Amino acid sequence: MATTKDYGLGEYTFPRGWFMVADATTVTAIPKAVRFFGTDFALYRGKTSGKAILLDAYCPHMGTHIAKNTTSYAVLDGQVEGDSIRCPYHAWRFGPDGKCDHIPYYDGPIPKAASVRSWPVMETMGCVYVWYDPEGGEPDYAVPSHPEWDDPQWVRWKIDDLGELHAHPQEIIDNITDLTHLGPIHGSTVEYFENEFRGPQAIQRQGGGHRTLVSADGSLLHTDTWYTGPGILYSSVRGFYDALMYITHTPVEDGSVYVWHGLMVKSAHAVATAEDVTNARLFQEASRLAFAQDFEVWSSKRPCLQVLQLPTDGPFHKARAWYKQFFQPRSKAAELCKQVDGVYTVKGMPAAPASAKVGQRY
Ligand code: FES
Ligand SMILES: [Fe+2]
Repeated sequence: MATTKDYGLGEYTFPRGWFMVADATTVTAIPKAVRFFGTDFALYRGKTSGKAILLDAYCPHMGTHIAKNTTSYAVLDGQVEGDSIRCPYHAWRFGPDGKCDHIPYYDGPIPKAASVRSWPVMETMGCVYVWYDPEGGEPDYAVPSHPEWDDPQWVRWKIDDLGELHAHPQEIIDNITDLTHLGPIHGSTVEYFENEFRGPQAIQRQGGGHRTLVSADGSLLHTDTWYTGPGILYSSVRGFYDALMYITHTPVEDGSVYVWHGLMVKSAHAVATAEDVTNARLFQEASRLAFAQDFEVWSSKRPCLQVLQLPTDGPFHKARAWYKQFFQPRSKAAELCKQVDGVYTVKGMPAAPASAKVGQRY
C-alpha cells in the first residue's frame, strides 16, 4: 500500500476538501462509529435539530469511544439527548459543539479541556459530508448540490455503499484523464475526449459508443464529468436516459478509501412513476457494474507512482498536478492551479464539440 508521501503529493497526508462520511439514511439518533483520515469519529443525528453531528470519538475524561458501546445503561437509556450525546463510561454529556455540557456526579465548573472536536458537516442529496482541512480553515468551495434532487421528474438514487478500497485515492483520480482504458475496460468506442482543469475542479468530456449504457441503434453515450474538489465526482450522462452519476471517495487511512456510488435518472413523465423508479434502479445497477470494472483493477493493482505515459494516453500528469493542490497549504495551491488550469486534448483524438458541454455545473 503506497502512501501520499510515496506519490510525492505534498506536505499533508490527507487532502483538504469536502468528503462524504455517510449515506444520510444511516445517520440516526443511534451513534455510528466511523473512521476517515486515520481518525475515529462518532456520527449521529441530533433529536432537536435533526442535523447530522460529527465529533471526535474519544472522550477526554478517560478515552472511551463514544459510539462503540451497546451495553452501558448510559447508552441503553438513550444516549442522544436533544442534540447532545453521553459517553457510555461515566455519562459525561457533550453538545453538538463538542463541549461537555453536563456531568451527572459533579456540580462544579466544567473544565475547558472537557471537550471533543466537532467537525463542520453538510447534508445534501441524501449524503452527509465533512469539511476536512489540515490547516483548520473554513471551506473555500461549496458542497455540490443539484436541483434534480427536488425535481419530481427525476428518480433519486439509493446510494450504493461500495466499501473500503485498499488503494490510494491517486489511483482513482487518474481515471478522470484515462482515455485509453475506456475501450478495454468499459467497451466504449470513444469519438471525442478532452480534459479541463479549473481551480478545484477537474473536468472530462467524452462521447462514443458503449456496450451497456446506450441502445444498439448506434447512438452515443455522452458524459460530462467533473470533480468538485478531491473526492466528489458527478457526471451528466446522456445515453439510454439522461442521468446524473455520482461517485465519491473519502480517505480512510493513508493508502485506502471508502467509496459510494449513485445515479439519478430523468424519467419521461412530469412525475416519475413506479415503473420509472424500477427502470432507474436497473440503470443505476448498470452504472454500478460499469464502475465495478474499474474497481476490480484498482483492488489488485500495484501502486502506480509514475505513469509510463504515451503521447496518446490521457494527460495523467496534469491530473496528478491538479490533485497536489489539496495536499499543500492554501498559499501554495493557487500557484499549482495556475500551472495546470486549462483545456487539454489528446493526440489523434478530437476535442469535445460545444454540444458535449451538457453538465455546465462547474
Ligand atoms: S470516559 Fe467518558 S465519561 Fe468517563
Ligand atoms: Fe473507468
